[in-house]
Amino acid sequence: MDANKRPENMERITTPELAKAFIDEQVAAVRAQVGDKKVLLALSGGVDSSVVAALLVKAIGKQLVCVHVNHGLMRKGESEDVIRIFRDEMDANLVYVDATDRFLNLLEGVSDPEKKRKIIGKEFIEVFADEARKLDGVEFLAQGTIYPDILESVKQAEGKKAVKSHHNVGGLPEDLKFELVEPVKLLFKDEVRVVGEALGLPHAMVYRQPFPGPGLGVRCLGAITRDRLHALREADAILREEFDICGLSEKVWQYFIAVPDIKSVGVKDESRYEGWPAIIRAVNTTDAMSATIEEIPYAVLHKITDRITHEVEGINRVLLDLTPKPIGTIEWE
Ligand code: XMP
Repeated sequence: MDANKRPENMERITTPELAKAFIDEQVAAVRAQVGDKKVLLALSGGVDSSVVAALLVKAIGKQLVCVHVNHGLMRKGESEDVIRIFRDEMDANLVYVDATDRFLNLLEGVSDPEKKRKIIGKEFIEVFADEARKLDGVEFLAQGTIYPDILESVKQAEGKKAVKSHHNVGGLPEDLKFELVEPVKLLFKDEVRVVGEALGLPHAMVYRQPFPGPGLGVRCLGAITRDRLHALREADAILREEFDICGLSEKVWQYFIAVPDIKSVGVKDESRYEGWPAIIRAVNTTDAMSATIEEIPYAVLHKITDRITHEVEGINRVLLDLTPKPIGTIEWE
């Protein structure tokens, strides 16, 4: 039997009862696989790695070492949430690495999106590898691989070209050889979420919208600067808050702000005020291959515009992106 192929008769996990049965099965399988050895996990705070972390905490407790790398491109409050949920509430063994300066220094002056992705991906592996080398006795690496990732790799092996290079954690350096632990690799995303809720993870984390590995790095368009990145993070937090208030966050698949490297003239306190525009993008899709635009009520758009232009230093306009995919990709870079 191919361990990477979902059996045709495998029941879809749609209820808490089915999730509990799956969890019990995986807890036993992980214990049998790793014995008393340590397992390392890159915990981004995304749905998949968070569910794997919670599952492994249940299976092996402190034998799991989670490493959360903050590349300085996280959304507002995200790293803090990871620390609170996993270290404080679940009592997980969590190493937090603030690598903001390492990433932002390397990205200085780099405007090409694919170069930015490569730098972020490569540095991510290096920071993670540095942490792994500091730990003794780790023989296993846990990953939040899910079934669509396996299907996607099969497609790529068949020679179909990807539009953007999405894979963030490629291979680790030669000196770090681990056996993989991938407890959710045969599950689809909706099943991973049901399992996450059954493990007691917060609803907001389990239903978190997708967030690209390079994070805000591909939304701070062109060469990233700290001031524009800060403005983007603050504007994005306002968008998320307002979507929570009006219920759109439960409905829209992905929504965010992008800030391009252009300035326009505005006026504030009776003086000329040059600032960047914040671009709102809110899309719906089932597979991210094509996407349609969410129709945001004008009252909500007015409130978001008012808040962003008053509360975020450096932003003097708010624009709405109405472009479906295709022709626009979901991200701007
Ligand atoms: P695009 O922009 O290609 O995005 O229409 C489709 C989905 O993929 C996400 N995305 C990424 N995810 N690394 C990731 O992990 C990346 O480099 C990357 N680029 C885009 C995007 O957010 C959307 O959900």
